[in-house]
Amino acid sequence: MSLDQSAVSSLRAEFPALQQTAGGRPLIFFDGPGGTQVHGSVIKAMGRYLTEANSNTHGAFLYSRRTDETTDAARQALADFLNAPRPEEIVFGANMTTLTFTISRAIGRTLSPGDEIVVTRLDHDADIAPWLALQEQGAVIRHVDFDPSDCTLDMAEMEATINPRTKLVAVGYASNAVGTINDVRRIGELAHAVGAWMYVDSVHYAPHGPIDVQAIDCDFLVCSTYKFFGPHLGVLYGRYELLEALPAYKVRPAPQDPPGKFETGTGNFEAQAGATAAVDYLASVGRRFGGKFAEEYASFEGRRRELKAGMAAIQAYERELCERFVAGLGKIPGLRIYGITDPARFDERAPTVSFTLEGLTPNQVARRLDEANIFVWDGNFYALAVTERLGLEEHGGLVRVGLAHYSTPEEVDMLVGVLGDMPR
Ligand SMILES: Cc1ncc(COP(=O)(O)O)c(C=O)c1O
Repeated sequence: MSLDQSAVSSLRAEFPALQQTAGGRPLIFFDGPGGTQVHGSVIKAMGRYLTEANSNTHGAFLYSRRTDETTDAARQALADFLNAPRPEEIVFGANMTTLTFTISRAIGRTLSPGDEIVVTRLDHDADIAPWLALQEQGAVIRHVDFDPSDCTLDMAEMEATINPRTKLVAVGYASNAVGTINDVRRIGELAHAVGAWMYVDSVHYAPHGPIDVQAIDCDFLVCSTYKFFGPHLGVLYGRYELLEALPAYKVRPAPQDPPGKFETGTGNFEAQAGATAAVDYLASVGRRFGGKFAEEYASFEGRRRELKAGMAAIQAYERELCERFVAGLGKIPGLRIYGITDPARFDERAPTVSFTLEGLTPNQVARRLDEANIFVWDGNFYALAVTERLGLEEHGGLVRVGLAHYSTPEEVDMLVGVLGDMPR
């Protein structure tokens, strides 16, 4: 069985927020790129942790041991989700932004003046500003542009920019502003060819397709579980030898080894419990609806295989829904999509579609949609370099619609209808 409409209705029933109404009408969540709704098992797991295990770590008593088990299980779950070779390569933090500043500060201690870091204008600022901060240490930051006509990275410029002085290439897996999926594998090859490290921001991509840090061959990869049906928790994968070698800013009694040396202060253990549940939910999608894809991932076993099949099923479903949505938007006069619109190229985009509507600011569009209980974001979504490059920063940025695997064709049609009828 694959992820079809009846499968999606049964999954939707498992998300308490999707059952809510306001003013007697259902709520339509297209705000996923800012944070998805949470699976019921996540809410239960967090409550269970706080009831049956709430404590600090490494104590000589039952609840503390349960807390240690909670953390170990979460590391294993995220290692499975990302196909990391070892759970010790998973570092938890408040969110992706905080973890990226942690790693950029650590890397900054190893740089010499004139060392270069490559960033892109297609990225969220959380994968730009932490690297810009290293200019204080004499690092040179190089920016790779994108083509404003389809919002894809300029790969020729990427090749020309990476050079023997490059120490790190920071790139997004997918753009949270315009949906473009980057060829992270190719960029990793370019980085490694000159001995540079590859840092991948997969925050936007994570809810939309399978991630495999070994196949991408990246050195670091970050994501946030609140973008894939879990709680607010940041996750960093780092190659063990690198995490071991990098100097951490830490308190003296804290662990000397990874991952503990990068986990400053007391962790958010209830969120770790919830993160395990979110990963288990996605594995269950694979078990229930990923049959068609399981063969493709025959080299994986157990939960890793279920996760790959589940995410592949989600990807296929979302692609169809995105085609329907983009086709619908194409019929609305004065609506301009920024990003890839050719359905034949939809494997190069996530189902996140951003646009402007002539006669209204993005914020006015979002407010009018809210009147119909349709939730979308407007603005720059912290992808400041994108809206600046597109010349939209002064005009309120973009309206962003994020489809998720719990979105339905009816919801998409409703949105297209409301947009088409919107008074301007
Ligand atoms: C692509 C991308 N990178 C980074 C971030 C920042 O993530 P966090 O909120 O976990 O710091 C976001 C958040 O929207 C994002 O979409």
